[in-house]
Amino acid sequence: MIFTQDEHMMERLFATVMPFIRDEKEDCLVEFEIDGKLISIDTTSISKAIRFIRQWSEESLKHIRIVQEYVYRTGIACNLDRSFVICVTKLSSVHDMGKVGIDFDILEKKGGLTPDERSIVRQHPLTGLKIFSFFADALSEEERKIAESIILYHHERWDGLGYPNGLKGEEIPAEARLVAIADAVAVMLAGTPYKEPISPDELPEILKAEKGCHFDPEMTEALLCAL
Ligand SMILES: [Fe+2]
Ligand SMILES: [Fe+2]
Repeated sequence: MIFTQDEHMMERLFATVMPFIRDEKEDCLVEFEIDGKLISIDTTSISKAIRFIRQWSEESLKHIRIVQEYVYRTGIACNLDRSFVICVTKLSSVHDMGKVGIDFDILEKKGGLTPDERSIVRQHPLTGLKIFSFFADALSEEERKIAESIILYHHERWDGLGYPNGLKGEEIPAEARLVAIADAVAVMLAGTPYKEPISPDELPEILKAEKGCHFDPEMTEALLCAL
């Protein structure tokens, strides 16, 4: 129930449940109203939610480490300001935060997604932004802006064919362009439930083919030199 696909309900649930998760209170009953109905979540449900989030975090930890490695390598190879690269590397860990709202059945589905499932997956940047707002206070103003742009724009493409906003070229903030290339590399190297992993030897050819299409051409060139 907690991880429903209904965005508004999810927003309200997180607003209610997050303070309890944050404080790790496990011995109270949470009650709140949704559309005139009184909903109660007992402590077991909250513990389950905590476990779900932790389990999910562990599943994605490996992915995050690879993303961070490629963000750093690409950013440094591109001669971007070192402290900016370090900041983006650190904050890239939150890029897929919105995926906690998606069922494992969809995330792990073999054989491709239906159009409906694809549109659920495509919601994760916006869902992520909402979830992030509960944690944003912990960051400085500058870090918050960078994290928000990573979460919202990491699936935009240089050629404008990405989502959610179809931004093009340098309309996409640099931090999101860095994470976009690193995320795609991490996914290709690890494979997906419906795509075999590529070998590291295949990476240069794929990067060359996607330079200026999916990825920022300058960043792609820099990463190619750094491989
Ligand atoms: Fe993503
Ligand atoms: Fe990712």
